[in-house]
Amino acid sequence: MTIAVVPGSFDPITAGHIDIIRRAKDLYEHVIVGVVINPGKKPLFSLEERVEMVKDAVSWDPTIAVDSFTGLLVDFVKLHNAKVIVRGLRAVSDFEHEFQMAQLNRRLNARIETVFMMASPEYAYLSSSIIKEIAMYDGSVKGLVSPNVEALLRKALA
Ligand code: PNS
Repeated sequence: MTIAVVPGSFDPITAGHIDIIRRAKDLYEHVIVGVVINPGKKPLFSLEERVEMVKDAVSWDPTIAVDSFTGLLVDFVKLHNAKVIVRGLRAVSDFEHEFQMAQLNRRLNARIETVFMMASPEYAYLSSSIIKEIAMYDGSVKGLVSPNVEALLRKALA
């Protein structure tokens, strides 16, 4: 059984993330979504809120696990006996950073493989930051995040 980890900040989870998680589940028997605790970043949503949002967004498949982690991603992957890290690639601009992370993760643990999935065209322009910006200025994010996240965004930015 191949276990795959889909890591991220998920601040908040978007339709683009959900698309990648769904496609990862099509490829791998077991998928764990890893929500990062990054002490260097100031997220809009607390870790607990982000984990809850992810759990709600993936509730269509009870076999998808959601967990949070701090420290190195490769250590989280190893802890869960996973072999694969799945990341979505939206545009060429994502490539440089993702390439750097994949190479460093390989150096840290050569037994773990990073697999990239091209973002579906309808989500290729989507990011958590742009969602927060649109919501901050009262724009509609309908269809780009779940109704639950939409409501939580309104509340957080009110
Ligand atoms: O959703 P994001 O913010 O693009 O996700 C970034 C993430 C969580 C994949 C990355 O920040 C990460 O792996 N953080 C854990 C710390 C770590 O392992 N850093 C070294 C990576 S080379």
